[in-house]
Amino acid sequence: MEKKLILAPLQGFTDAPFRQVYPRHFTGFDEAMAPFISTMGEKRLKPSRIKDVLPENNPILPVVPQILGNVAEDFIFLTHHLADMGYTTVNWNLGCPHSKIAKKRRGSGLLCWPDQIDKFLDEVVGAIPCSLSVKVRLGRNTADEIFDLLPVFDRYPLEEIIVHPRTGVQLYTGEADIDAFGRILEKTRHNLVYNGDITGMKRFQRVEQRFPMIERFMIGRGVLADPFLPATIKGEVRDRSEDLVRIKRFHDDLFETYDHNFYGPSHIAGRMKGFWNYLAPSFKGGKKALKRIFKSKDREEYLVRARGFFKEEISFCPEDHGN
Ligand SMILES: Cc1cc2nc3c(=O)[nH]c(=O)nc-3n(C[C@H](O)[C@H](O)[C@H](O)COP(=O)(O)O)c2cc1C
Repeated sequence: MEKKLILAPLQGFTDAPFRQVYPRHFTGFDEAMAPFISTMGEKRLKPSRIKDVLPENNPILPVVPQILGNVAEDFIFLTHHLADMGYTTVNWNLGCPHSKIAKKRRGSGLLCWPDQIDKFLDEVVGAIPCSLSVKVRLGRNTADEIFDLLPVFDRYPLEEIIVHPRTGVQLYTGEADIDAFGRILEKTRHNLVYNGDITGMKRFQRVEQRFPMIERFMIGRGVLADPFLPATIKGEVRDRSEDLVRIKRFHDDLFETYDHNFYGPSHIAGRMKGFWNYLAPSFKGGKKALKRIFKSKDREEYLVRARGFFKEEISFCPEDHGN
């Protein structure tokens, strides 16, 4: 049985430009989940918020849109609009850890309110014209909150539950709790997707061997650090002498796509530096050139320095960290 790989929603990273560019250079992903769209209230629909999931901006990878919100009526309204655009599944974000959002009982802030989740699902499930999946953490404050939620989820026909086994307050610290994922697996009737810390082949195999019945895996930061990772997991063999050339082509394409279509000159350097935060540790050599990239202030400076980096004595060794 071939395992399916899903590109994780990473707000500020895996948006439509990334989802267009990445599959032009690398294989391995079967689908993507888009970063969340917040519900807007009062039946309003801001075109800027929908732009990311417009079908014309998502020509290659099949996409599941994700919604963040806690008002059933607003969720239903937005879902109808997404269904009109051709989407057959939407995802409800129950994992966002940021305190500003959680305080308003959105994202992971809802995980300690099973009754509110139950009421929301009761109102939403029969009222939307497509199927629903949920993306959860183990809880907001403690790792056992999820166990009060599983019986609630069991009452509804969910497409699947994507589990990132950390708590909300943990943010991204510590390790994804694989044991907790195993306990959830025993206590739900739904199909689970594993998500969290798949940063290399060894990590993937550890999860795969432990849970052979899991068919779907979601990968986020790992692919930003090693864009070859999904293909490696799928067993594709590559000529490693071409790694640097391929990464540079991908980088240049990503830069141009953001530059032309989506961002003003002041944003582009910042946006690209975000990617380097994840990618940089995968290189051996070129440390000073990397520092210069991070210090670049505008588009031109960035471009010169990024080009300079690829001319350095460097090699791409993602397996040397994080495995
Ligand atoms: C910068 C950043 C932005 C994220 N944005 C979202 C988001 O919009 N929706 C969501 O469900 N999860 C979001 N996440 C969580 C990821 O989808 C994923 O669950 C988490 O990073 C764990 O997977 P990983 O270890 O493979 O990265 C975000 C994570 C990061 C680091």
